[in-house]
Amino acid sequence: METKCGDKVRGQGVETSFIDNGRCVTYPSRMTFDEARRRLEAESQGHVLRFWEQLDDTQRSNLLEQISTLDLGLVGRMRSQLGDWLKSKDTTAAEPEPAGVVKLADDRRAVATLRGESALRAGEVGVLLVAGGQGSRLGFDGPKGAYPIGPVSDAVLFYFHARKVLALSKAYDTTVPFYIMTSASNDAATRACFEEHKWFGLNPEAVFFFKQGMWPALDAEGRLILEAPDRLFMSPDGHGGTLSALQTSGGLDDMVRRGLSTIFYFQVDNPLVEVADPAFIGMHLFEEAELSVKVCAKRDPEEGLGMVVQRDGRCEMIEYTELTREQKYRRREDGSLYFNYGSVAIHLFQLDFLRREASVEMPMHIAHKKIPFCGDDGKVVKPDKPNGYKFEKFIFDHLPHANKVLNVAFDRADEFSPVKNAKGPDSPETCRRDLIAKWGRWFDAIGIELPRDAGGHPAIPIEIDPFYARTPAQLRERLRDGPLPDLNAPVWLKET
Ligand code: UD1
Repeated sequence: METKCGDKVRGQGVETSFIDNGRCVTYPSRMTFDEARRRLEAESQGHVLRFWEQLDDTQRSNLLEQISTLDLGLVGRMRSQLGDWLKSKDTTAAEPEPAGVVKLADDRRAVATLRGESALRAGEVGVLLVAGGQGSRLGFDGPKGAYPIGPVSDAVLFYFHARKVLALSKAYDTTVPFYIMTSASNDAATRACFEEHKWFGLNPEAVFFFKQGMWPALDAEGRLILEAPDRLFMSPDGHGGTLSALQTSGGLDDMVRRGLSTIFYFQVDNPLVEVADPAFIGMHLFEEAELSVKVCAKRDPEEGLGMVVQRDGRCEMIEYTELTREQKYRRREDGSLYFNYGSVAIHLFQLDFLRREASVEMPMHIAHKKIPFCGDDGKVVKPDKPNGYKFEKFIFDHLPHANKVLNVAFDRADEFSPVKNAKGPDSPETCRRDLIAKWGRWFDAIGIELPRDAGGHPAIPIEIDPFYARTPAQLRERLRDGPLPDLNAPVWLKET
């Protein structure tokens, strides 16, 4: 029988254990303690087995299983990169310059919308959601997509995304396939959330879940971190793991089989996103871009947005954690920020580009983090300051490889208000406020006056199911014949 990545092959003495950067790495299925020790010691990681004598049979087998799926070559590269990174963060790369950005004028918007709609109608567009992150800043116990955000209904983030995909399929008389990346830490809970909500009305056959890879973390000496006597600490390998995970899960093949050519990519945390926005798709196609990025002006120098820049004639992104203070605060004579446009992680990819990039080795980014570890007594310690290093790949590191990149500026108020923090900016409170304000503008646009507070904000909570109406024009249509909602109570317009 032919083996393919991700398969577990029984009875042949091998077990295909994991995929990294499109490479399929195979190890013996039943690694013995001696083999594990030999491999670990060869990489100066022998401490991973230091609790061996105290483990019972199940724990021993769990630990051997985990070691057998560990790419020690990768760990070696992590270790050496960490060493360089800790010594010096200097770079010999050329100075970045702000990248070119286009704004969508109204006359071009109409033409671009028609082009995008024709691609949607032809069934050429798929939607890709990355939802494998751990959402640690929000402090929510579960996949972030299961966070209740509906201002009236408490509907979860996944609801808004899924209902938009459903609405697109209906509007364009097609099936828009929905690819959702999860990770080992939230895959089961994510699937359960979709099942519990009856797939939000979607046909399960058009929803494709796939799991990203997990990577170990290192301490300052480059040693693997145990989080329990029988378990290494592992965390998702970053959304830069999307393409290799799509490839090994069969997701890319599924896209080809369905005849897709353009993939709309977005993050789970932003319920204002205009999923597969036809105008954005139209511009991307007119410009024959391989990768397009939605950008908006930064709220302030410290806002956590990756910056689109130009370096050595190629477009690239510098993540906000990697910007220098000088880059963040530099201003032009007119007072605007020199690096003004941030990415909101909404992209369009041509499928051919994704397929070409799927086996490209991605750079690793390092972050100093608080990582639970196993103390000498075998008990878990939760540190109160960063004690180790996590490694991640970023999807936007594909940017410099694209033949053409298009950065499109848009109006933040209508499309971007993420849920990142438990309180303050980019929290559930600001996100609900911005959702209500957006729907409030829809009511204005169709001439229905809402009660407003002294600040001009809608005085009642509003919520519109994206399948009920995904644009102001559709809202007008829906309300034309029926009774108007009672505007003295919370308004929740939904498809019944
Ligand atoms: C992210 C972007 C930043 C962008 C900002 C816009 C990164 C590294 N940075 O910042 O450039 O300007 O959003 O809001 O993403 N995810 C995975 N797997 C992972 C890690 C993350 O699927 O291994 C997903 C998360 O589920 C989430 C998204 O990626 O949907 C963003 O992750 P997060 O870590 O919250 O990124 P930010 O720091 O907010």
